[in-house]
Amino acid sequence: MRYIGNKTRLLDFIGTVLARRGIRGGHAVDPFTGTASVACELKRRRFSVTASDIMEYGYTFARAYVQVTTPPESPALAHALGLRDGRLETIVAHLNALPPEPGFIHEHYTPAGGAGRTHARMYFTPANGARIDAVRTRLETWRSRHWIDDDAYHSLVASLIEAADRVANTTGVYAAFVKTWQANALRALELRAPTLIPGAGCTSARGDALDTVRDAGDFDLLYLDPPYNARQYAGYYHIPELIAQGWFGAPVETRGKTGLLRDADKRSDWSRSRRCEAAFEELVATARCRHIVMSYNAEGIIPESTIERVLRRHGRSRSYRRYRLAYRRYRSDADGERRRYRADSVEEYLYCVSR
Ligand SMILES: C[S@@+](CC[C@H](N)C(=O)[O-])C[C@H]1O[C@@H](n2cnc3c(N)ncnc32)[C@H](O)[C@@H]1O
Repeated sequence: MRYIGNKTRLLDFIGTVLARRGIRGGHAVDPFTGTASVACELKRRRFSVTASDIMEYGYTFARAYVQVTTPPESPALAHALGLRDGRLETIVAHLNALPPEPGFIHEHYTPAGGAGRTHARMYFTPANGARIDAVRTRLETWRSRHWIDDDAYHSLVASLIEAADRVANTTGVYAAFVKTWQANALRALELRAPTLIPGAGCTSARGDALDTVRDAGDFDLLYLDPPYNARQYAGYYHIPELIAQGWFGAPVETRGKTGLLRDADKRSDWSRSRRCEAAFEELVATARCRHIVMSYNAEGIIPESTIERVLRRHGRSRSYRRYRLAYRRYRSDADGERRRYRADSVEEYLYCVSR
């Protein structure tokens, strides 16, 4: 999915650096997993991976794409609904054929809802909002009736988050919606069954990176990809977060022009210039691993001198090395109908140390 810091385009670079440093297999921990793109690559490279994130959707992706290693089957659901079988593909086809059912998303994130609000929120068309509602509500019901297990549930929620992102009327983040309908938003919501990567011994969690690393004990590779600027993911991806956690327990309050959620517990020290350096040093000092590989952007808020000092201090100083990849990135610098795209050259770094 479209995600700030998504490393999908850098997987070859990361793989090349791992190979060059002789890091092959073992237990890898990716505590800032986001879309789980790197965790999936490590899984493909036969690492047993622990993937986690502070955000619930990060956990959903980690569970669906990393922890799940054999295709989930849901025979109880197939029986209850009279489906041909309980494979994810069959269930996805059933979900894609559901009629729209206006609910929470339709009410709060489409222009059809929110009577009395001064601003109509145009994140989804009313039809797609009501389709998201129909699918998400079904998944909750099926899970509560034990018709699907947790692997199938998270796989289907992940598929819904990605489908919703493809039809979201945004420029890539949910901090704002576009004021006219974009072509992608006018397409009908369509879920796709996830493609599973074979693997063994992979796990997932939701939580702070420090807790994940502490809980991992001794391991081989720590891959770090923390936020690198002041943008809090909780505020930029509140709608994927809502789809991941659902709205079926305590009442969910949405506020402001964009329908933000309460997110104090998900705001990260790694996005605070006064706290990120201490968070980094504490994490590195805590990790009991053989290798550390950290992705960080040249524009990041932790100074490069700090990264080098901390890694050298907590590793074998002579094994420290910075690898660099320069590539061109295209990004919009304005929301709305007159969006402009600017190409700039970005440098991405991998900082490595061994112990
Ligand atoms: C640069 S992104 C990671 C991108 C990921 N490698 C990918 O390819 O999609 C940083 C991630 O760190 C997560 N995050 C921020 N603070 C965190 C914390 N204290 N503990 C765990 N995860 C955190 C964010 O939710 C976000 O998903």
